[in-house]
Formats: sequence, C-alpha cells, structure tokens
Amino acid sequence: MKHLMSPLDFSVEELDHILDLANDIENHPEKYAHACAGKKLATLFYEPSTRTRLSFEAAMLNLGGSVLGFSSADSSSAAKGESVSDTIRVISCYADICAMRHPKEGAPMVAASKSSIPVINAGDGGHQHPTQTLTDLLTIRSLKGRLNNLTIGLCGDLKFGRTVHSLIHALVRYPDIRFVLISPEELRIPDYIKENVLDKDHISYKEVERMEDALPNLDLLYMTRVQKERFFNEEDYVRMKDFYILDKKKMELAPSDMLVLHPLPRVNEISVEVDEDPRAVYFKQAQFGVYVRMALILTLLEIEC
Ligand code: CP
Repeated sequence: MKHLMSPLDFSVEELDHILDLANDIENHPEKYAHACAGKKLATLFYEPSTRTRLSFEAAMLNLGGSVLGFSSADSSSAAKGESVSDTIRVISCYADICAMRHPKEGAPMVAASKSSIPVINAGDGGHQHPTQTLTDLLTIRSLKGRLNNLTIGLCGDLKFGRTVHSLIHALVRYPDIRFVLISPEELRIPDYIKENVLDKDHISYKEVERMEDALPNLDLLYMTRVQKERFFNEEDYVRMKDFYILDKKKMELAPSDMLVLHPLPRVNEISVEVDEDPRAVYFKQAQFGVYVRMALILTLLEIEC
C-alpha cells in the first residue's frame, strides 16, 4: 500500500506515468467512468479548501465511486479532542482511500503510519502540497510541452507557501531547470530548501525582490498568495499582502509565451484584468487538478483500465 506525502514519494518515471494517465483521462473520460464503482474516498479536511477538496470529490465521482468526509475540524470529533491517529483508524473502516488536509505539518504522515488505507496529503501547514504539484506538473507539461529546460519565476510568499515548496522538490529532478525566487526579504524561501534541495542539487537560482526585473526572462511565472493564516501577527500580514500585484502593464514586460500559474485562491496578487490574457492559465490549472487526482486515485488503488 502506497501513501502520498511528498512529490518525492513517486519516482520521475512514476510521475510521468500519472501525468500520461491524466492526459488519457482528459481525452477519454468515458473509459474511466466506472473504474472506481463500489469504492469510497474520504476527505478529511481540518483546514478550509475549495479546489483540493472539491476536485478530489469530483475526481472520485467521475470515476464512479462515492465520497464522504468533513470539511472543517469543528464539524468532526477533532473538536472533542480526538487524535488524527484514532480518526484514521476509524476512517479506515469506512473508506478505501483518504485525502487529508491539516494545519499541522506532518499530520498526514502520522495518519499514514496508523492507516490501513492509502492516505494522500492534501496540504499540511506550510510544508507540502503534493497533489497541487501534480496539478502544476500536468499544467506545465500539457501547455508548455515539457518539464525540462525552463526558467521559472516563483513569486510571493515563498516562506509559507507549501505549493512552492512541493513544486521545487519535484522540478529539480528534471534537467535544466532554473528558478528566479521573487519575494520580499521577510518571505524568502526557507534555508532548508535552499541548502537541502537547490544547493545540494546544484540548481541554478537567484533571489530578487522586483518582479519587473525577472519578468522578461521567464518561461513560467508561478504567483502565490501571501498566506495570512500562517502569520503570527496581523500587522506583518497587512504590510506584506499587496507587495506584488501582477497587472496588464507588468504583463507587457513578459515574453509572449510566458505562462502565468497560480494554485489559487487569489486575493489581490493578480489583477482580474490579467484573466483575459491567453498567458493566464490558472483556471485551466484548476481543471487539470481533477484529471490528475483521478489518475492518482486509480494509481494508489492499483486499478487498471
Ligand atoms: N490550491 C489549493 O490548495 O486551493 P484550496 O485551498 O482551495 O484547496
């Protein structure tokens, strides 16, 4: 039985297989419409979510399976003090696979250690968000045609942004990847990622504060929201929240084939006027999230079609 805690739980070959399967699902949805008949997915969300929870549920329903779960800690027995370990032992009696989001880093890992069904980390604190990474990889490969030889600007809250952390871990395994890390001083990428991933793998990267300086040389711009929920005080959040706003004028500085991705939700960091730009692909990205989660469910349940 396999769990998914981090993008590194899959080899590059296994990732490629999941992305191929997701493309096949996109092109031939009818082939997969009953693949999970009789199977149940539990969504255990201790933190708010729109895309991840609902795309997991849509994925399982598209596969002919069923879904159950809770969407906040308050509506589960966590509110009465039940541990994640006890919860997963119970959920293992009710479902065949589960996706868990939790504010505490490592909580899905604790669940996996006590589970008799596959556990998928649907985001743990400021740590990892591997299924967003699968979504991002599928989006990039489908729309850019490759996962190698890319200059990628990561912009915004690189300190607390778990989607960025997971994406870096995944992309460094492909050849000729270069990062431009665009953030204010206070929200720079954590040292452990610089030292253990970027420096260790001799990945080319530079840190800049001005988005305008980076834009002309990017293949992809990955925008992120400043993570309000991870700040210790409101004052720091208010100071940082509108540090970057991508608008039409800034898009004029970017190459004509640069793609703009965002895991969403967006707050102010991308002006709505950018949505009409064909380079803005963040809503397509959300659609790719359904295909790739369908592929992941099939893979972890070892169902072949
Ligand atoms: N991208 C993402 O994780 O969105 P949600 O928080 O809405 O799930």
